[in-house]
Amino acid sequence: MKVVVIQGPNLNMLGIREQNIYGPMKLEDIHAQMKNFAEQNGMEIEFFQSNLEGEIVDKIQECLGDAQGIIINPAAYTHTSIAIRDAIAAVQIPTIEVHISNIYRREEFRQKSLIAPVCAGQISGFGPFSYHLAMVAMLQIFNEMKALAEAQKKQQQ
Ligand code: DQA
Repeated sequence: MKVVVIQGPNLNMLGIREQNIYGPMKLEDIHAQMKNFAEQNGMEIEFFQSNLEGEIVDKIQECLGDAQGIIINPAAYTHTSIAIRDAIAAVQIPTIEVHISNIYRREEFRQKSLIAPVCAGQISGFGPFSYHLAMVAMLQIFNEMKALAEAQKKQQQ
């Protein structure tokens, strides 16, 4: 089963940007750890980063028929993008929203997510480890999907 990891604007600057908030780890290092976890657990994984809202919408749409799960850090678009929210709602692929920082203890404008209501769940505030927690949660979702498919197959027999 395949998960697509979508990273929003300025996340390509991790390791450089606001290290007091986001820490020193680079995006490629986070992705290397996620790839390891995926390999160890028999998951397929693909990574995508864009600073453009429309490109993120396109990528979510491309997941249809290609991926069984999405892990997304919409970054600043979390707080503004109805288009990204609608794309997730449209494809109906289980999606986990991730944040490195705890958005609920930051500025008021960050405390609202337009994306969370269309996601399976949200992980926020554990630094780069948030992505690992999202992988664990996605593995659980995949296992539940497999179990459900097995049960349905048995019922049909
Ligand atoms: C972020 C939180 C957002 O408010 C911010 O705009 C980001 C990163 C996080 O991972 O903590 O770019 O999504």
